[in-house]
Amino acid sequence: MNELFDIRGRVAVMTGACGVLGETIVKYFAKEGCKVVLLDLERAAEKGEKIVSDILAAGGDAMFLPTDVLNESVLQGNLEAILERYGRVDILLNAAGGNMGPANVAPDKTIFDLDLDATRKVLELNLFGAIIPTKVFARTMVSAGKGSIINFCSMSSFRPLTRVAGYGMAKSALASWTQWLSGEMAVKFGEGIRVNAIAPGFLLTNQNRSLLTNPDGSLTDRSHKILAHTPYGRFLEADELVGALHYLASDASKGVTGTIAVVDGGFNCFSI
Ligand SMILES: NC(=O)c1ccc[n+]([C@@H]2O[C@H](COP(=O)([O-])OP(=O)(O)OC[C@H]3O[C@@H](n4cnc5c(N)ncnc54)[C@H](O)[C@@H]3O)[C@@H](O)[C@H]2O)c1
Repeated sequence: MNELFDIRGRVAVMTGACGVLGETIVKYFAKEGCKVVLLDLERAAEKGEKIVSDILAAGGDAMFLPTDVLNESVLQGNLEAILERYGRVDILLNAAGGNMGPANVAPDKTIFDLDLDATRKVLELNLFGAIIPTKVFARTMVSAGKGSIINFCSMSSFRPLTRVAGYGMAKSALASWTQWLSGEMAVKFGEGIRVNAIAPGFLLTNQNRSLLTNPDGSLTDRSHKILAHTPYGRFLEADELVGALHYLASDASKGVTGTIAVVDGGFNCFSI
C-alpha cells in the first residue's frame, strides 16, 4: 500500500450517500478500508441500510443515519452518534444536492416564469446543505488538527448552463465557498484541514434524466449538444469519480486545498 494514498481506518462521512453517486462512492471508500457513515433523508433509509449491509457483507464497516443537511440540530445528533461509534470524522463528502424542475427555465418559458420558491430551495440545498454540515462536522477535524472536506460542484459551477438557473447559482456559489473556506481553515486552524471540491461532468442519472432523455429513452437535443462538447463523446460513469475523491481525501493531496477537481471527459475546457 502506498502510504500517501492509505486511507484505511479513516472515518468518511457522506451526505446524500444514498443517491446515484453516493452508493458507488461509499462502497469505494469502504473497500479502501474507511469506516463509512451514510447520511441521507429518512425516506432513503431502506436504500441506506441495504448499502450498509452490502458493505458489511464485503468485510467493511459502515452505518446509516437519517439526517437533514439543512437542520443543524439533526446534524449535531448525527455527530454525537458518529463520535460514539467511531470517535472522529476524517473525511466529509458534502454530496447532498440536486436540482428541481420548477427552478429551471424551459425553452418555451422565460425569466418571468421562474419559480422563486423552487429556486430558493435549490439554492438552499446545494449551498447551505454543504455549509451547515461543515459547521457541524469540521469542529472535530479542528480538534484533531486534520481533516479533508470535499464539496460536490458541477459543470455549472464555472459558467451557467442554459435552463438551470437556480442550480447554476447554487453550484457557482458552492465553488466560491469552497475556495473561501480553504483559506479560512488553513489560516485559522492550520494546513491539516483541507477543503476541496469535485466537479463531475455529465452523467446520465435520475437527477437529470428528464433533461437528457426523451420519454422513449432516446437522447434529447440537449444531450447531443453536451456530447458534441465533450471530447470523450460520452457521458461519464459514477466510478470514474472515485480516483479523484480518493486523492483529495488522502495525504497524497496534502499540499492541495481550495481546488476543484474537474472530472468531465474534457467538457469544461473544450471549445470548437
Ligand atoms: N449525477 C450527476 O450527474 C451530477 C453531476 C454533477 C454534480 N452532481 C452533484 O453531486 C451530488 C450527488 O449527485 P447524485 O446524482 O448522487 O444526486 P441524487 O439526487 O441521486 O442524490 C442526492 C441525495 O441527496 C439526498 N438529499 C436531498 N435532500 C437532502 C437533505 N435535505 N438532507 C440530506 N440528504 C438529502 C437525497 O435523498 C439523495 O439520496 C449532488 O450535489 C449533485 O448536485 C451530480
